[in-house]
Amino acid sequence: MDKNAQWCTKMVRRKRVELAEDELPRAWYNIQADLPTPLDPPLNPQTLEPLMPEDLEPIFPKELIRQEASTERWIKIPEDVLEVYRIWRPTPLYRAERLEEFLRTPARIYYKWEGVSPPGSHKPNTAVAQAYFNMKEGVQRLTTETGAGQWGSALAFGCQLFGLDCTVYMVRVSYNQKPYRRILMEVWGAECVPSPSERTEFGRKILEQDPNSPGSLGIAISEAIEDAVKHDDTKYSLGSVLNHVLLHQTVIGLELKKQFEMLDEYPDVMFGCVGGGSNFAGACFPFIGDKLQGKPEARGLRVVSCEPKACPTLTKGIYAYDHGDTACLTPLLKMYTLGHDFVPPPIHAGGLRYHGDAPLLCKLTHDGYMEAVAYHQNEVFEAAMLFAKTEGFVIAPETAHCVRAAIDEALRCKETGEEKVIFFANSGHGHFDLAAYDAFLRKKLVDYEYPEEEIKRLAERLPRV
Ligand SMILES: Cc1ncc(COP(=O)(O)O)c(C=O)c1O
Repeated sequence: MDKNAQWCTKMVRRKRVELAEDELPRAWYNIQADLPTPLDPPLNPQTLEPLMPEDLEPIFPKELIRQEASTERWIKIPEDVLEVYRIWRPTPLYRAERLEEFLRTPARIYYKWEGVSPPGSHKPNTAVAQAYFNMKEGVQRLTTETGAGQWGSALAFGCQLFGLDCTVYMVRVSYNQKPYRRILMEVWGAECVPSPSERTEFGRKILEQDPNSPGSLGIAISEAIEDAVKHDDTKYSLGSVLNHVLLHQTVIGLELKKQFEMLDEYPDVMFGCVGGGSNFAGACFPFIGDKLQGKPEARGLRVVSCEPKACPTLTKGIYAYDHGDTACLTPLLKMYTLGHDFVPPPIHAGGLRYHGDAPLLCKLTHDGYMEAVAYHQNEVFEAAMLFAKTEGFVIAPETAHCVRAAIDEALRCKETGEEKVIFFANSGHGHFDLAAYDAFLRKKLVDYEYPEEEIKRLAERLPRV
């Protein structure tokens, strides 16, 4: 066979499915338009009455508040946001053929690769949009929290491109484990502060109680909100959980649908890691939308969230109203929760150490449209290692949770002989997480399990609504 013919044969097998730049979606998909029953409303933490849009104005710009409550099915993506998305979007869909071959599975495994963005994850899909809408309303500075540093670096990137200042409160355990993410934030002009910090009243209070507090996302959120509320030119930005964040991430799933169409495939099962739920919601909501609209191709689809056993929000939490942060500053959200005072053990998937999850994703789980599984970090890193050895990419520890699930599903297919189409959302690279890989390689990773006594005590610790 001559060289060209060989090249062509390989191309036909479509290891990688790319969309052209002009195939980028022009509108985000809002699943609130298709929910059989509406979301339970967020509640004002003082009055316990449903939140009014004005209640959110000290911390968010008006357009994002509008998007939060909107039930329009499509929300237009502004041209200036599309222009920035084009730096790395559309992202490729890969067929994990080498992993399939290694596992000797009849299943076909696909993943969409968000690690190609400048900060290395899905997070800029919303960071860029949020920076843009704040800039349009004259905001000068954004504050936020970050766990692993992925979100902080994404917001630093978004703010840099739209000329905003940015202050990031980074959970102290991750700040110490991941200095390179802090440097990345600084390269994009942001200031990064370890949380709990001396900057805020709430941070000082926590440090008084425990000077060695490892911090948590809940604490860092409280600090970032306090900073925003106390400064008129400043607003707060959240990297996950809220409806508008999940909305912006649907650019992933909308591209994915087109890519599956090009292959004449439709997933049988979709896996994604869930910290607050944004990347997985972004990938799967357009497909759950098919289900809600009664499309026949989606009838058998299973959608499975993957989380750590150390922070088992969906698999062990209670579905109830709770605060999003430790200081009880945020509205009460109806979600699966481990309690707003939960401080998770210092596992390496920093972005999955959050006590709650997105209300939209929680409702869909509660109503039976989604399921959840939980894993220990050693089995998760085993999967990440196998993925790196077969497919080449070194992925984020967060993402590795759904790779574990995809591999387990492919192995089940090997036993049953089913040729399932397995998809997982590959949310980011692990280039700044090599210390975690090192700990795994040196057998120093500890598996933590959320104690059963804590679960029993959980209901008492939740706000009475
Ligand atoms: C690479 C990566 N994937 C997933 C997550 C989890 O967040 P979410 O559930 O909002 O996608 C994070 C959070 O920091 C992350 O950095």
